[in-house]
Amino acid sequence: MFDDDFDCPHGCDANGFLFDEVTRSAYPCTCREERLRRRSHSDMEASVGRYAPPRFQDLDWSRLPLSGIAERHTATAGAVRRYAGRVVQNASEGRGLWLLGNKGTGKTTLAYYVAQEARAAGLSVLTRNTTDLLNELRDSYKPDAQPTTRQIIDAVTHVDLLHLEDVSVPRPNDWVLEQLYTIVNRRYEHNKAIVFTSDTPYGEGINPDTLADHIGERTYSRLMQMIEQPFFMTGADFRLAS
Ligand SMILES: Nc1ncnc2c1ncn2[C@@H]1O[C@H](COP(=O)(O)OP(=O)(O)O)[C@@H](O)[C@H]1O
Ligand SMILES: [Mg+2]
Ligand SMILES: [Zn+2]
Repeated sequence: MFDDDFDCPHGCDANGFLFDEVTRSAYPCTCREERLRRRSHSDMEASVGRYAPPRFQDLDWSRLPLSGIAERHTATAGAVRRYAGRVVQNASEGRGLWLLGNKGTGKTTLAYYVAQEARAAGLSVLTRNTTDLLNELRDSYKPDAQPTTRQIIDAVTHVDLLHLEDVSVPRPNDWVLEQLYTIVNRRYEHNKAIVFTSDTPYGEGINPDTLADHIGERTYSRLMQMIEQPFFMTGADFRLAS
C-alpha cells in the first residue's frame, strides 16, 4: 500500500528518489526515510488488517456522540482530549491511556477518538478487540496462516499506538495470560504506548486492581507503569437509557 497522501516539495518519485540530470543517476531525497517509515507502517496495518467500524469514524467534539460524552463525563473527556492533542509526544514517550467503567458510557468512543487523532498526526495505529487479537494469534499457528504469528507480534510490538478494546474480557487461561504478557511487555520494553478500555459491572464499586485477576499481575503492573492513572466512566448504559 502506498502513501497516497504523501506530498514532497522536491518532486521525488514514489520511492523517495530524485534524478540528477548531470550525473544521470538517482539519489535519495530527504523525505525517503520518512516515506519508508510510513510505508512499513501501512504495510503492517495491511498485513494484520484494520478495524474501524463506521460508528467510530469522523468523531468530532461538536457532534454526538463526543459532545454528549463531554457533557456527561466532562473531566475524563477533557483529559482524553488533552492526551489526544499531544498524542505524538505521548506515544513516543510510551504514555498510555486506560478508560475503565460501566458499559455504554463512551469508553470505546473516546479510545477511537484517540486512535483517529493519532492517525491524523501521522502515527501508525492498530485497533483490536483483545479477544479478537488472541483468536487471530491462535489461528496464526495453523500452517500457511495469514497473517503469520510473526507478523501479528511484529505489528503489535512496533505500531506507534496500540488500541486494545475490552482487555478484561478474554477468559484467562495460561496461554491467554502468556500472550497478553508478551504483547504488553514487548511494548513496555520498546517504550510504546497502549490505549485500552475495560468494562466493570454496573452498580459495583470500581477497583482498578481487579483487572489483575483477568490479565495477570505481571501484565497489570506493566500496564500501570504505562499510564498515569485510569480514567473512570461510570453511570447507566447510554444505549439502554436512550
Ligand atoms: N453521552 C453520549 N451521548 C451520545 N451517545 C453516546 C453517549 N455515550 C455513549 N454513546 C453511544 O453509545 C454507544 C456505546 O458507546 P461506547 O463508546 O461503545 O461505550 P462503552 O465502550 O463504554 O461501552 C455508542 O454508540 C456511542 O456512540
Ligand atoms: Mg467498549
Ligand atoms: Zn522527497
